[in-house]
Amino acid sequence: MQRESNTSSQSRTKQNKMSENDGLRSSQLMKLFEDELKDIYWAEKALTKAIPRMIKNATSEDLINALESHLLETLEQVSRLESVFTSIDKKAVAKKCEAMSGLIDEGQEIIDECEEGAMRDVGIISAAQKIEHYEIASYGTLRQFAETLKLSEAVGLLEQTLKEEKAADETLTDIAVPDVNVQAAEKQEAE
Ligand SMILES: [Fe+2]
Ligand SMILES: [Fe+2]
Repeated sequence: MQRESNTSSQSRTKQNKMSENDGLRSSQLMKLFEDELKDIYWAEKALTKAIPRMIKNATSEDLINALESHLLETLEQVSRLESVFTSIDKKAVAKKCEAMSGLIDEGQEIIDECEEGAMRDVGIISAAQKIEHYEIASYGTLRQFAETLKLSEAVGLLEQTLKEEKAADETLTDIAVPDVNVQAAEKQEAE
């Protein structure tokens, strides 16, 4: 009898320990989730200033249209992130995202270095696609974290933006492959 009671108290202690560990893990994951959220919030806000610069320097009509429509989506994504912060009872705070800052600077260098026209368009597409890929990775991770943390409202909001980023990336590929790359290659051959 004594032995049974020892066993059950041992298993209770083990269970308590396990749920303590679960609690610790989920609070660490929550912290990581919030940090990543602040990061991408900064990134999206920075993009609302960077995309107009890309539009100003682009020549292909398809590229301009794609960037203009993604700029509108990006503005929407900024307020969607504010809703994610609200859904976890946090104030929306932006923290400088060094990775996005670097990608935006790189895009600006390409604009400065490439001559206006098809070549610069190719450069803008390549910079924009790197940015989209970074966003896809970030939103994919954030959505997964939100799922694990059972934050269903956040999951829905993040999923919506993730879809937009993937679609924007595909649109850029569609423009790059048949149109702009060919023009850029033809121009180089002619030179
Ligand atoms: Fe975005
Ligand atoms: Fe994007």
